[in-house]
Amino acid sequence: MLYQVVLLASIIPFAASAVDITIPLSAPSGAPLVAPDLVSLSIEQDRWVDWAGTTEQNQFFYNALNNLAQITNSPPFIRIGADSEDHTDFSYDVEYEEDIFPASSSVSPYPEASNITVGQGFYDVISHLPFGTRVHWGVNLRQYNLTAAYLETKALIQAFESQAVKTKGITLNFIEIGNEADLYYNNGGRDSSWSVFEYVPQWVQIATNVSETAGLSKTSFTKLIGAAFAGSSNNNISGFSPQAIFAEGILGTMPGALITTISQHRYSGSFCAGSGAILQDLMTKSYIRGNISVFEPDIKATFAHGLKYILGETNSKSTIMPSFRVSNTAGAALWALDYSLFATQVGISRLHFHEGVGYKYNFIQPVTLNYSIVDGSPITPLPPHIQPPYYAAIISAEAIGSTGHARMVEIPIDATDVSGYAIFEHGHLVRAVFINHVAYLPGAGVRSSTHININFDGFGPQQMEVRRLDITYANATSGVTWAGQTYETTDARVSGTLQIQTLNVCDGLDIQETEVVLLSFL
Ligand SMILES: *[C@@H]1O[C@H](CO)[C@@H](O)[C@H](O)[C@H]1NC(C)=O
Ligand SMILES: *[C@@H]1O[C@H](CO)[C@@H](O)[C@H](O)[C@H]1NC(C)=O
Ligand SMILES: *[C@@H]1O[C@H](CO)[C@@H](O)[C@H](O)[C@H]1NC(C)=O
Ligand SMILES: *[C@@H]1O[C@H](CO)[C@@H](O)[C@H](O)[C@H]1NC(C)=O
Ligand SMILES: *[C@@H]1O[C@H](CO)[C@@H](O)[C@H](O)[C@H]1NC(C)=O
Ligand SMILES: *[C@@H]1O[C@H](CO)[C@@H](O)[C@H](O)[C@H]1NC(C)=O
Ligand SMILES: *[C@@H]1O[C@H](CO)[C@@H](O)[C@H](O)[C@H]1NC(C)=O
Repeated sequence: MLYQVVLLASIIPFAASAVDITIPLSAPSGAPLVAPDLVSLSIEQDRWVDWAGTTEQNQFFYNALNNLAQITNSPPFIRIGADSEDHTDFSYDVEYEEDIFPASSSVSPYPEASNITVGQGFYDVISHLPFGTRVHWGVNLRQYNLTAAYLETKALIQAFESQAVKTKGITLNFIEIGNEADLYYNNGGRDSSWSVFEYVPQWVQIATNVSETAGLSKTSFTKLIGAAFAGSSNNNISGFSPQAIFAEGILGTMPGALITTISQHRYSGSFCAGSGAILQDLMTKSYIRGNISVFEPDIKATFAHGLKYILGETNSKSTIMPSFRVSNTAGAALWALDYSLFATQVGISRLHFHEGVGYKYNFIQPVTLNYSIVDGSPITPLPPHIQPPYYAAIISAEAIGSTGHARMVEIPIDATDVSGYAIFEHGHLVRAVFINHVAYLPGAGVRSSTHININFDGFGPQQMEVRRLDITYANATSGVTWAGQTYETTDARVSGTLQIQTLNVCDGLDIQETEVVLLSFL
Protein backbone atom coordinates (compact mmCIF):
# COMPACT_ATOMS: atom_id res chain seq x y z
CA MET A 1 0.00 0.00 0.00
CA LEU A 2 2.70 2.38 1.04
CA TYR A 3 4.72 1.39 -2.04
CA GLN A 4 1.79 2.21 -4.27
CA VAL A 5 1.36 5.68 -2.81
CA VAL A 6 5.04 6.44 -3.25
CA LEU A 7 5.01 5.19 -6.80
CA LEU A 8 2.00 7.34 -7.68
CA ALA A 9 3.59 10.38 -6.17
CA SER A 10 6.80 9.90 -8.11
CA ILE A 11 5.24 9.39 -11.53
CA ILE A 12 3.25 12.62 -11.61
CA PRO A 13 4.37 13.68 -15.08
CA PHE A 14 4.49 17.45 -14.91
CA ALA A 15 6.87 18.36 -12.11
CA ALA A 16 8.17 21.32 -14.05
CA SER A 17 10.96 22.10 -11.64
CA ALA A 18 12.72 20.63 -8.66
CA VAL A 19 14.33 22.18 -5.61
CA ASP A 20 16.74 20.65 -3.12
CA ILE A 21 16.29 21.78 0.43
CA THR A 22 17.99 21.01 3.71
CA ILE A 23 15.99 21.09 6.91
CA PRO A 24 17.77 21.31 10.26
CA LEU A 25 16.91 18.49 12.66
CA SER A 26 17.34 20.73 15.70
CA ALA A 27 16.06 24.25 16.19
CA PRO A 28 18.78 26.68 15.11
CA SER A 29 19.83 29.07 17.86
CA GLY A 30 17.59 32.09 17.87
CA ALA A 31 14.69 30.28 16.15
CA PRO A 32 11.67 32.32 17.23
CA LEU A 33 9.17 30.87 19.68
CA VAL A 34 5.78 30.92 17.95
CA ALA A 35 2.58 31.28 19.94
CA PRO A 36 -0.35 29.00 19.10
CA ASP A 37 -2.54 32.09 18.59
CA LEU A 38 -0.17 33.59 15.99
CA VAL A 39 -3.17 33.92 13.65
CA SER A 40 -5.72 35.90 15.63
CA LEU A 41 -8.64 38.20 14.81
CA SER A 42 -9.60 41.87 15.01
CA ILE A 43 -13.31 42.72 14.97
CA GLU A 44 -14.84 46.02 13.81
CA GLN A 45 -16.88 46.96 16.86
CA ASP A 46 -19.87 48.60 15.15
CA ARG A 47 -21.34 45.10 14.77
CA TRP A 48 -19.58 43.39 17.69
CA VAL A 49 -22.83 42.11 19.17
CA ASP A 50 -23.60 40.33 15.86
CA TRP A 51 -20.35 38.39 16.29
CA ALA A 52 -20.80 37.62 19.98
CA GLY A 53 -24.60 37.30 20.18
CA THR A 54 -26.77 39.09 22.73
CA THR A 55 -29.02 36.88 24.87
CA GLU A 56 -27.32 33.79 23.47
CA GLN A 57 -23.88 33.20 22.06
CA ASN A 58 -23.48 33.24 18.29
CA GLN A 59 -22.89 29.51 17.95
CA PHE A 60 -21.35 29.73 14.49
CA PHE A 61 -18.69 32.24 15.57
CA TYR A 62 -18.08 30.32 18.79
CA ASN A 63 -17.53 27.09 16.86
CA ALA A 64 -15.21 28.74 14.34
CA LEU A 65 -13.04 29.98 17.24
CA ASN A 66 -13.35 26.79 19.24
CA ASN A 67 -12.12 24.69 16.27
CA LEU A 68 -8.80 26.53 16.59
CA ALA A 69 -8.74 26.15 20.37
CA GLN A 70 -9.23 22.39 19.94
CA ILE A 71 -6.11 22.23 17.76
CA THR A 72 -3.83 24.49 19.81
CA ASN A 73 -5.40 24.54 23.32
CA SER A 74 -5.50 28.30 22.91
CA PRO A 75 -8.34 30.21 21.22
CA PRO A 76 -7.50 33.12 18.93
CA PHE A 77 -6.66 36.40 20.67
CA ILE A 78 -9.53 38.80 19.94
CA ARG A 79 -9.09 42.51 19.36
CA ILE A 80 -12.33 44.50 19.36
CA GLY A 81 -12.46 48.11 18.21
CA ALA A 82 -10.75 49.43 15.08
CA ASP A 83 -12.01 52.50 13.27
CA SER A 84 -15.38 52.35 15.02
CA GLU A 85 -13.74 52.42 18.49
CA ASP A 86 -13.14 56.10 17.73
CA HIS A 87 -16.80 56.71 16.85
CA THR A 88 -18.27 55.05 19.92
CA ASP A 89 -20.19 56.76 22.67
CA PHE A 90 -21.45 55.13 25.86
CA SER A 91 -24.95 55.48 27.23
CA TYR A 92 -26.62 53.90 30.27
CA ASP A 93 -29.85 54.01 28.21
CA VAL A 94 -28.58 51.54 25.60
CA GLU A 95 -28.73 47.83 26.37
CA TYR A 96 -26.20 46.50 23.83
CA GLU A 97 -25.40 48.68 20.83
CA GLU A 98 -27.27 51.20 18.67
CA ASP A 99 -25.80 52.15 15.32
CA ILE A 100 -26.55 54.54 12.51
CA PHE A 101 -25.36 53.14 9.20
CA PRO A 102 -24.81 54.95 5.90
CA ALA A 103 -26.78 53.37 3.03
CA SER A 104 -25.39 50.19 1.55
CA SER A 105 -23.92 50.78 -1.90
CA SER A 106 -22.34 48.72 -4.63
CA VAL A 107 -18.92 50.01 -3.67
CA SER A 108 -19.47 49.51 0.05
CA PRO A 109 -22.18 46.87 0.62
CA TYR A 110 -21.60 46.78 4.39
CA PRO A 111 -20.45 50.29 5.37
CA GLU A 112 -19.17 51.03 8.84
CA ALA A 113 -21.61 52.76 11.20
CA SER A 114 -21.22 56.52 11.43
CA ASN A 115 -22.61 56.73 14.94
CA ILE A 116 -22.26 54.00 17.56
CA THR A 117 -23.68 54.11 21.05
CA VAL A 118 -23.00 51.20 23.35
CA GLY A 119 -24.23 50.14 26.77
CA GLN A 120 -23.04 47.71 29.41
CA GLY A 121 -24.35 44.67 27.50
CA PHE A 122 -22.00 45.45 24.61
CA TYR A 123 -19.07 44.59 26.87
CA ASP A 124 -20.80 41.85 28.87
CA VAL A 125 -21.31 39.62 25.82
CA ILE A 126 -17.59 38.94 25.77
CA SER A 127 -18.64 36.05 28.05
CA HIS A 128 -19.94 34.27 24.92
CA LEU A 129 -16.42 33.60 23.64
CA PRO A 130 -14.54 30.33 24.16
CA PHE A 131 -12.91 29.48 27.46
CA GLY A 132 -9.59 31.21 27.94
CA THR A 133 -10.03 33.87 25.25
CA ARG A 134 -7.60 36.76 25.59
CA VAL A 135 -8.93 40.19 24.66
CA HIS A 136 -7.55 43.52 23.45
CA TRP A 137 -10.26 46.23 23.42
CA GLY A 138 -10.19 49.78 22.09
CA VAL A 139 -11.62 52.96 23.61
CA ASN A 140 -12.27 56.32 21.99
CA LEU A 141 -9.46 58.83 21.53
CA ARG A 142 -10.42 60.54 18.27
CA GLN A 143 -13.43 62.39 19.74
CA TYR A 144 -11.10 63.68 22.49
CA ASN A 145 -13.99 63.23 24.90
CA LEU A 146 -12.76 62.14 28.31
CA THR A 147 -16.27 61.11 29.36
CA ALA A 148 -16.60 58.65 26.47
CA ALA A 149 -13.26 56.98 27.22
CA TYR A 150 -14.03 56.95 30.96
CA LEU A 151 -17.52 55.43 30.65
CA GLU A 152 -16.30 52.83 28.15
CA THR A 153 -13.47 51.87 30.48
CA LYS A 154 -15.80 51.53 33.47
CA ALA A 155 -18.11 49.27 31.49
CA LEU A 156 -15.18 47.25 30.17
CA ILE A 157 -13.84 46.62 33.66
CA GLN A 158 -17.28 45.77 35.01
CA ALA A 159 -17.72 43.18 32.25
CA PHE A 160 -14.36 41.54 32.88
CA GLU A 161 -14.99 41.44 36.62
CA SER A 162 -18.33 39.66 36.13
CA GLN A 163 -18.64 36.08 37.29
CA ALA A 164 -19.70 34.91 33.80
CA VAL A 165 -16.47 36.19 32.27
CA LYS A 166 -14.20 35.08 35.13
CA THR A 167 -15.67 31.56 35.13
CA LYS A 168 -14.70 31.22 31.48
CA GLY A 169 -11.16 32.42 32.06
CA ILE A 170 -11.66 35.24 29.55
CA THR A 171 -9.17 38.02 30.24
CA LEU A 172 -8.70 41.66 29.31
CA ASN A 173 -5.03 41.70 28.35
CA PHE A 174 -4.92 45.10 26.70
CA ILE A 175 -6.77 48.36 26.44
CA GLU A 176 -6.03 50.33 23.28
CA ILE A 177 -6.63 54.08 23.37
CA GLY A 178 -7.35 55.31 19.87
CA ASN A 179 -7.17 53.57 16.50
CA GLU A 180 -4.78 54.79 13.79
CA ALA A 181 -4.29 58.21 15.34
CA ASP A 182 -1.81 58.97 12.58
CA LEU A 183 -4.82 59.22 10.24
CA TYR A 184 -6.81 61.70 12.36
CA TYR A 185 -5.84 64.63 10.17
CA ASN A 186 -6.58 62.72 6.95
CA ASN A 187 -9.99 61.56 8.23
CA GLY A 188 -11.07 64.87 9.69
CA GLY A 189 -10.58 64.01 13.35
CA ARG A 190 -8.00 66.79 13.89
CA ASP A 191 -6.83 69.89 12.07
CA SER A 192 -3.65 70.37 10.07
CA SER A 193 -1.55 70.99 13.18
CA TRP A 194 -1.99 67.32 14.10
CA SER A 195 1.34 65.71 14.79
CA VAL A 196 2.98 63.29 17.13
CA PHE A 197 3.79 66.29 19.36
CA GLU A 198 0.05 66.85 19.93
CA TYR A 199 -0.77 63.16 20.01
CA VAL A 200 1.49 62.14 22.86
CA PRO A 201 0.09 64.60 25.47
CA GLN A 202 -3.51 63.89 24.39
CA TRP A 203 -2.93 60.15 24.59
CA VAL A 204 -1.31 60.57 28.01
CA GLN A 205 -4.23 62.66 29.27
CA ILE A 206 -6.89 60.14 28.24
CA ALA A 207 -4.70 57.14 29.12
CA THR A 208 -4.13 58.52 32.62
CA ASN A 209 -7.88 58.57 33.23
CA VAL A 210 -8.40 55.17 31.58
CA SER A 211 -5.63 53.47 33.52
CA GLU A 212 -6.71 55.00 36.86
CA THR A 213 -10.34 54.12 36.16
CA ALA A 214 -9.32 50.55 35.32
CA GLY A 215 -6.96 50.32 38.29
CA LEU A 216 -3.94 49.56 36.13
CA SER A 217 -0.42 49.54 37.47
CA LYS A 218 2.97 48.01 36.68
CA THR A 219 1.77 44.86 38.47
CA SER A 220 -1.78 44.65 37.10
CA PHE A 221 -2.68 41.97 34.59
CA THR A 222 -4.21 44.34 32.06
CA LYS A 223 -1.78 46.54 30.16
CA LEU A 224 -1.95 49.17 27.43
CA ILE A 225 -1.26 48.86 23.72
CA GLY A 226 1.11 51.37 22.20
CA ALA A 227 0.84 53.05 18.78
CA ALA A 228 -1.92 51.19 16.81
CA PHE A 229 -0.89 53.32 13.84
CA ALA A 230 -1.79 52.76 10.19
CA GLY A 231 1.67 53.70 8.99
CA SER A 232 5.24 52.81 9.87
CA SER A 233 8.55 54.65 10.05
CA ASN A 234 9.01 53.52 6.45
CA ASN A 235 5.78 55.20 5.35
CA ASN A 236 4.90 57.51 8.20
CA ILE A 237 1.70 59.51 8.21
CA SER A 238 1.86 62.94 9.86
CA GLY A 239 5.29 61.88 11.18
CA PHE A 240 3.92 59.09 13.37
CA SER A 241 5.87 55.93 14.14
CA PRO A 242 6.79 53.96 17.27
CA GLN A 243 10.21 55.61 17.12
CA ALA A 244 8.59 59.06 17.13
CA ILE A 245 6.46 58.37 20.23
CA PHE A 246 9.46 56.84 22.01
CA ALA A 247 11.42 59.98 21.17
CA GLU A 248 8.59 62.08 22.64
CA GLY A 249 9.07 60.19 25.89
CA ILE A 250 5.74 58.37 25.96
CA LEU A 251 7.21 55.38 27.81
CA GLY A 252 8.41 57.61 30.65
CA THR A 253 4.89 58.85 31.44
CA MET A 254 2.68 57.17 34.03
CA PRO A 255 0.31 55.50 31.53
CA GLY A 256 3.10 55.05 28.97
CA ALA A 257 4.91 52.83 31.46
CA LEU A 258 1.92 50.45 31.15
CA ILE A 259 2.61 49.87 27.44
CA THR A 260 4.02 46.37 26.99
CA THR A 261 3.20 45.81 23.33
CA ILE A 262 3.46 47.99 20.25
CA SER A 263 0.81 47.39 17.61
CA GLN A 264 0.78 48.54 14.01
CA HIS A 265 -1.67 47.98 11.19
CA ARG A 266 -1.10 46.85 7.63
CA TYR A 267 -3.10 46.12 4.48
CA SER A 268 -1.36 44.94 1.34
CA GLY A 269 -3.12 47.58 -0.71
CA SER A 270 -6.44 48.63 -2.15
CA PHE A 271 -7.64 48.67 -5.72
CA CYS A 272 -10.72 49.20 -7.84
CA ALA A 273 -11.48 45.88 -9.49
CA GLY A 274 -10.16 42.42 -8.73
CA SER A 275 -8.29 40.44 -11.38
CA GLY A 276 -6.10 37.39 -11.69
CA ALA A 277 -3.00 39.61 -11.88
CA ILE A 278 -3.87 41.34 -8.61
CA LEU A 279 -4.49 37.98 -6.95
CA GLN A 280 -1.07 36.77 -8.15
CA ASP A 281 0.52 39.97 -6.79
CA LEU A 282 -1.07 39.34 -3.40
CA MET A 283 0.25 35.77 -3.37
CA THR A 284 3.76 36.59 -4.62
CA LYS A 285 6.51 35.45 -2.25
CA SER A 286 8.68 38.56 -2.64
CA TYR A 287 5.74 40.95 -2.14
CA ILE A 288 4.66 39.17 1.02
CA ARG A 289 8.19 39.55 2.36
CA GLY A 290 8.22 43.20 1.28
CA ASN A 291 4.97 43.96 3.09
CA ILE A 292 6.28 42.47 6.34
CA SER A 293 9.84 43.73 6.08
CA VAL A 294 8.78 47.40 6.10
CA PHE A 295 8.32 46.96 9.86
CA GLU A 296 11.83 45.77 10.64
CA PRO A 297 13.20 49.16 11.82
CA ASP A 298 10.07 49.68 13.98
CA ILE A 299 10.39 46.20 15.47
CA LYS A 300 14.07 46.79 16.24
CA ALA A 301 13.22 50.07 17.97
CA THR A 302 10.41 48.35 19.90
CA PHE A 303 12.63 45.50 21.07
CA ALA A 304 15.24 48.02 22.19
CA HIS A 305 12.67 49.12 24.81
CA GLY A 306 11.92 45.53 25.83
CA LEU A 307 8.41 45.60 24.34
CA LYS A 308 6.59 43.07 22.19
CA TYR A 309 5.40 43.77 18.67
CA ILE A 310 2.17 42.74 16.95
CA LEU A 311 0.15 43.57 13.86
CA GLY A 312 -3.03 44.50 15.74
CA GLU A 313 -5.03 44.92 12.54
CA THR A 314 -4.13 43.51 9.16
CA ASN A 315 -5.59 41.89 6.09
CA SER A 316 -5.06 41.54 2.39
CA LYS A 317 -6.77 44.47 0.70
CA SER A 318 -8.49 47.35 2.42
CA THR A 319 -12.28 47.33 2.17
CA ILE A 320 -12.73 50.75 0.65
CA MET A 321 -12.67 49.28 -2.81
CA PRO A 322 -14.44 46.18 -4.11
CA SER A 323 -11.91 43.43 -3.70
CA PHE A 324 -14.01 40.46 -4.66
CA ARG A 325 -12.22 37.52 -6.22
CA VAL A 326 -9.05 38.51 -4.47
CA SER A 327 -9.58 38.89 -0.72
CA ASN A 328 -12.17 36.13 -0.34
CA THR A 329 -10.41 33.52 -2.45
CA ALA A 330 -8.41 30.38 -1.86
CA GLY A 331 -5.36 32.29 -3.08
CA ALA A 332 -5.85 34.74 -0.22
CA ALA A 333 -5.62 31.77 2.18
CA LEU A 334 -2.10 31.10 0.88
CA TRP A 335 -1.29 34.79 1.27
CA ALA A 336 -2.53 34.84 4.88
CA LEU A 337 -0.59 31.71 5.77
CA ASP A 338 2.75 32.78 4.30
CA TYR A 339 2.31 36.34 5.61
CA SER A 340 1.74 35.03 9.14
CA LEU A 341 4.52 32.46 9.14
CA PHE A 342 7.00 34.88 7.61
CA ALA A 343 6.03 37.53 10.19
CA THR A 344 7.39 35.27 12.95
CA GLN A 345 10.82 35.53 11.35
CA VAL A 346 11.11 39.28 11.88
CA GLY A 347 9.83 39.32 15.46
CA ILE A 348 6.06 39.83 15.03
CA SER A 349 4.46 37.81 17.78
CA ARG A 350 0.84 37.87 16.62
CA LEU A 351 -1.35 39.03 13.72
CA HIS A 352 -4.97 40.09 14.17
CA PHE A 353 -6.74 39.60 10.82
CA HIS A 354 -9.42 42.24 10.59
CA GLU A 355 -13.05 41.20 10.22
CA GLY A 356 -16.36 43.04 9.87
CA VAL A 357 -19.81 41.73 9.01
CA GLY A 358 -19.97 41.40 5.23
CA TYR A 359 -16.35 42.46 4.65
CA LYS A 360 -14.84 40.77 1.65
CA TYR A 361 -11.59 39.63 3.26
CA ASN A 362 -13.18 37.93 6.29
CA PHE A 363 -12.11 34.52 7.53
CA ILE A 364 -15.61 34.18 9.01
CA GLN A 365 -19.03 35.60 8.05
CA PRO A 366 -20.76 35.26 11.42
CA VAL A 367 -24.37 36.17 10.52
CA THR A 368 -26.79 35.74 7.62
CA LEU A 369 -26.01 38.15 4.80
CA ASN A 370 -28.85 39.69 2.78
CA TYR A 371 -26.75 41.72 0.38
CA SER A 372 -23.99 40.51 -1.90
CA ILE A 373 -20.54 41.26 -0.47
CA VAL A 374 -19.47 41.91 -4.08
CA ASP A 375 -21.86 44.61 -5.26
CA GLY A 376 -24.42 45.12 -2.51
CA SER A 377 -27.30 43.66 -4.53
CA PRO A 378 -30.05 41.82 -2.60
CA ILE A 379 -29.38 38.08 -2.39
CA THR A 380 -31.16 34.99 -1.10
CA PRO A 381 -30.18 35.08 2.58
CA LEU A 382 -26.75 33.51 2.87
CA PRO A 383 -26.30 31.77 6.25
CA PRO A 384 -23.14 32.17 8.34
CA HIS A 385 -20.12 30.57 6.69
CA ILE A 386 -16.36 30.56 6.65
CA GLN A 387 -14.41 32.00 3.69
CA PRO A 388 -11.26 30.35 2.28
CA PRO A 389 -8.77 32.45 4.33
CA TYR A 390 -10.09 30.63 7.43
CA TYR A 391 -7.95 27.68 6.32
CA ALA A 392 -4.85 29.78 6.96
CA ALA A 393 -5.83 29.86 10.64
CA ILE A 394 -6.43 26.09 10.68
CA ILE A 395 -3.15 25.24 8.95
CA SER A 396 -1.16 27.65 11.08
CA ALA A 397 -2.74 26.11 14.20
CA GLU A 398 -1.86 22.58 13.08
CA ALA A 399 1.67 23.61 12.12
CA ILE A 400 2.34 25.31 15.46
CA GLY A 401 0.56 22.66 17.51
CA SER A 402 -0.53 22.70 21.12
CA THR A 403 2.69 22.53 23.14
CA GLY A 404 3.17 26.28 23.44
CA HIS A 405 6.89 25.57 22.87
CA ALA A 406 7.01 25.55 19.07
CA ARG A 407 9.88 27.31 17.34
CA MET A 408 9.89 28.08 13.63
CA VAL A 409 12.45 28.94 11.00
CA GLU A 410 12.03 29.68 7.33
CA ILE A 411 13.66 27.01 5.17
CA PRO A 412 15.89 28.62 2.55
CA ILE A 413 14.46 27.59 -0.83
CA ASP A 414 16.09 28.61 -4.06
CA ALA A 415 12.80 29.36 -5.84
CA THR A 416 10.84 32.56 -6.25
CA ASP A 417 7.50 30.81 -5.95
CA VAL A 418 7.87 28.20 -3.17
CA SER A 419 8.34 28.96 0.50
CA GLY A 420 8.76 26.66 3.47
CA TYR A 421 9.01 26.67 7.25
CA ALA A 422 10.27 24.09 9.73
CA ILE A 423 8.67 23.68 13.16
CA PHE A 424 10.50 22.37 16.22
CA GLU A 425 9.08 21.20 19.53
CA HIS A 426 11.40 20.87 22.50
CA GLY A 427 14.22 21.60 20.06
CA HIS A 428 13.45 18.76 17.63
CA LEU A 429 12.10 18.97 14.09
CA VAL A 430 8.46 17.86 14.03
CA ARG A 431 6.73 19.43 11.05
CA ALA A 432 7.25 21.52 7.93
CA VAL A 433 4.94 23.65 5.81
CA PHE A 434 5.41 24.39 2.11
CA ILE A 435 3.49 26.87 -0.02
CA ASN A 436 3.46 27.10 -3.82
CA HIS A 437 2.77 30.77 -4.53
CA VAL A 438 1.80 30.49 -8.20
CA ALA A 439 -1.84 31.52 -8.71
CA TYR A 440 -3.38 28.73 -10.76
CA LEU A 441 -6.27 30.37 -12.62
CA PRO A 442 -8.90 29.13 -15.06
CA GLY A 443 -7.53 29.00 -18.59
CA ALA A 444 -3.91 28.64 -17.44
CA GLY A 445 -3.56 25.19 -19.02
CA VAL A 446 -1.62 22.38 -17.35
CA ARG A 447 -1.16 22.85 -13.63
CA SER A 448 2.53 22.70 -13.00
CA SER A 449 4.17 21.47 -9.82
CA THR A 450 7.51 21.70 -8.12
CA HIS A 451 9.30 18.63 -6.78
CA ILE A 452 10.87 19.17 -3.38
CA ASN A 453 13.85 16.96 -2.52
CA ILE A 454 14.19 16.89 1.25
CA ASN A 455 17.56 16.53 2.96
CA PHE A 456 18.39 16.83 6.64
CA ASP A 457 21.54 18.10 8.26
CA GLY A 458 22.06 14.62 9.77
CA PHE A 459 20.29 11.29 10.04
CA GLY A 460 16.62 12.23 10.04
CA PRO A 461 13.13 10.74 9.93
CA GLN A 462 12.39 8.27 7.11
CA GLN A 463 8.69 8.85 6.70
CA MET A 464 6.26 11.73 6.79
CA GLU A 465 2.53 12.27 6.88
CA VAL A 466 1.29 14.73 4.28
CA ARG A 467 -1.79 16.96 4.53
CA ARG A 468 -2.75 19.05 1.52
CA LEU A 469 -4.90 22.13 1.02
CA ASP A 470 -6.90 21.17 -2.04
CA ILE A 471 -7.91 24.13 -4.20
CA THR A 472 -9.42 24.07 -7.70
CA TYR A 473 -8.33 27.55 -8.76
CA ALA A 474 -6.68 30.40 -6.90
CA ASN A 475 -9.80 32.52 -7.42
CA ALA A 476 -12.16 29.86 -5.96
CA THR A 477 -14.31 31.24 -3.17
CA SER A 478 -15.52 27.84 -1.94
CA GLY A 479 -14.86 24.13 -2.30
CA VAL A 480 -11.51 24.20 -0.52
CA THR A 481 -10.59 21.14 1.56
CA TRP A 482 -7.83 20.54 4.07
CA ALA A 483 -6.59 16.94 4.30
CA GLY A 484 -9.87 15.96 2.65
CA GLN A 485 -12.05 17.80 5.16
CA THR A 486 -14.15 20.93 4.90
CA TYR A 487 -15.11 23.70 7.30
CA GLU A 488 -17.72 25.00 4.85
CA THR A 489 -20.51 23.62 7.01
CA THR A 490 -23.63 25.15 8.54
CA ASP A 491 -22.12 25.08 12.04
CA ALA A 492 -18.43 25.72 11.16
CA ARG A 493 -17.54 22.27 12.49
CA VAL A 494 -15.23 20.15 10.35
CA SER A 495 -16.77 17.47 8.17
CA GLY A 496 -15.56 14.68 5.90
CA THR A 497 -12.99 11.91 6.09
CA LEU A 498 -9.45 12.86 6.98
CA GLN A 499 -7.08 12.09 4.09
CA ILE A 500 -3.43 11.84 5.02
CA GLN A 501 -0.75 10.39 2.74
CA THR A 502 2.31 8.69 4.19
CA LEU A 503 5.39 9.15 2.03
CA ASN A 504 9.06 8.22 2.28
CA VAL A 505 11.05 11.34 2.97
CA CYS A 506 13.75 10.25 0.51
CA ASP A 507 11.25 10.40 -2.37
CA GLY A 508 10.46 14.03 -1.65
CA LEU A 509 7.10 15.34 -2.79
CA ASP A 510 5.39 17.42 -5.41
CA ILE A 511 3.60 20.64 -4.59
CA GLN A 512 1.39 22.02 -7.32
CA GLU A 513 0.57 25.62 -8.13
CA THR A 514 -1.69 27.19 -5.46
CA GLU A 515 -1.17 24.47 -2.88
CA VAL A 516 -0.08 24.13 0.73
CA VAL A 517 1.33 20.97 2.25
CA LEU A 518 1.98 20.23 5.90
CA LEU A 519 4.47 17.47 6.63
CA SER A 520 4.52 15.71 9.99
CA PHE A 521 7.73 13.74 10.36
CA LEU A 522 7.31 10.26 11.81
C1 LIG B 1 -18.90 62.63 25.14
O1 LIG B 1 -19.14 61.25 25.41
C2 LIG B 1 -20.36 61.02 26.08
C3 LIG B 1 -20.40 59.53 26.41
O2 LIG B 1 -20.01 58.72 25.33
C4 LIG B 1 -21.51 61.45 25.20
O3 LIG B 1 -22.72 61.25 25.86
C5 LIG B 1 -21.35 62.92 24.85
O4 LIG B 1 -22.35 63.27 23.93
C6 LIG B 1 -20.00 63.15 24.23
N1 LIG B 1 -19.78 64.56 24.01
C7 LIG B 1 -19.48 65.06 22.84
C8 LIG B 1 -19.27 66.53 22.77
O5 LIG B 1 -19.34 64.35 21.83
C1 LIG C 1 -25.69 59.29 17.78
O1 LIG C 1 -26.68 58.47 18.38
C2 LIG C 1 -27.11 58.93 19.63
C3 LIG C 1 -28.03 57.88 20.24
O2 LIG C 1 -28.90 57.35 19.29
C4 LIG C 1 -27.78 60.30 19.46
O3 LIG C 1 -28.15 60.80 20.71
C5 LIG C 1 -26.77 61.24 18.82
O4 LIG C 1 -27.38 62.47 18.54
C6 LIG C 1 -26.23 60.67 17.52
N1 LIG C 1 -25.17 61.52 17.03
C7 LIG C 1 -25.07 61.81 15.77
C8 LIG C 1 -23.88 62.67 15.41
O5 LIG C 1 -25.86 61.43 14.93
C1 LIG D 1 -12.00 60.53 34.42
O1 LIG D 1 -12.84 61.41 33.73
C2 LIG D 1 -14.18 61.41 34.20
C3 LIG D 1 -14.98 62.22 33.22
O2 LIG D 1 -14.46 63.50 33.11
C4 LIG D 1 -14.22 61.90 35.63
O3 LIG D 1 -15.55 61.85 36.10
C5 LIG D 1 -13.36 60.99 36.47
O4 LIG D 1 -13.30 61.46 37.78
C6 LIG D 1 -11.97 60.92 35.90
N1 LIG D 1 -11.22 59.91 36.63
C7 LIG D 1 -9.96 60.09 37.02
C8 LIG D 1 -9.36 58.98 37.76
O5 LIG D 1 -9.35 61.12 36.77
C1 LIG E 1 9.07 59.88 8.37
O1 LIG E 1 9.60 59.33 7.17
C2 LIG E 1 10.64 60.10 6.60
C3 LIG E 1 11.09 59.44 5.33
O2 LIG E 1 10.05 58.74 4.71
C4 LIG E 1 11.82 60.17 7.57
O3 LIG E 1 12.80 61.02 7.05
C5 LIG E 1 11.35 60.73 8.91
O4 LIG E 1 12.40 60.64 9.84
C6 LIG E 1 10.19 59.88 9.41
N1 LIG E 1 9.69 60.45 10.65
C7 LIG E 1 9.38 59.70 11.69
C8 LIG E 1 8.86 60.49 12.85
O5 LIG E 1 9.51 58.49 11.73
C1 LIG F 1 2.77 44.55 -0.86
O1 LIG F 1 2.01 43.64 -1.65
C2 LIG F 1 1.44 44.18 -2.82
C3 LIG F 1 0.66 43.10 -3.52
O2 LIG F 1 -0.43 42.71 -2.74
C4 LIG F 1 2.52 44.72 -3.73
O3 LIG F 1 1.92 45.35 -4.84
C5 LIG F 1 3.39 45.69 -2.97
O4 LIG F 1 4.46 46.06 -3.80
C6 LIG F 1 3.93 45.04 -1.72
N1 LIG F 1 4.71 46.00 -0.94
C7 LIG F 1 5.99 45.83 -0.66
C8 LIG F 1 6.63 46.91 0.13
O5 LIG F 1 6.61 44.85 -1.01
C1 LIG G 1 -30.33 39.58 7.25
O1 LIG G 1 -31.70 39.38 7.54
C2 LIG G 1 -31.94 38.56 8.68
C3 LIG G 1 -33.44 38.30 8.75
O2 LIG G 1 -34.12 39.51 8.74
C4 LIG G 1 -31.40 39.24 9.92
O3 LIG G 1 -31.56 38.41 11.03
C5 LIG G 1 -29.92 39.51 9.71
O4 LIG G 1 -29.41 40.24 10.81
C6 LIG G 1 -29.68 40.29 8.42
N1 LIG G 1 -28.24 40.40 8.22
C7 LIG G 1 -27.56 41.53 8.36
C8 LIG G 1 -26.08 41.45 8.17
O5 LIG G 1 -28.07 42.59 8.63
C1 LIG H 1 -12.35 32.67 -11.62
O1 LIG H 1 -11.91 33.26 -12.81
C2 LIG H 1 -12.62 32.81 -13.98
C3 LIG H 1 -11.93 33.38 -15.20
O2 LIG H 1 -11.73 34.76 -15.06
C4 LIG H 1 -14.06 33.20 -13.88
O3 LIG H 1 -14.79 32.71 -14.98
C5 LIG H 1 -14.64 32.59 -12.60
O4 LIG H 1 -15.97 33.01 -12.42
C6 LIG H 1 -13.82 32.99 -11.39
N1 LIG H 1 -14.30 32.26 -10.23
C7 LIG H 1 -14.78 32.89 -9.18
C8 LIG H 1 -15.27 32.02 -8.08
O5 LIG H 1 -14.82 34.10 -9.09
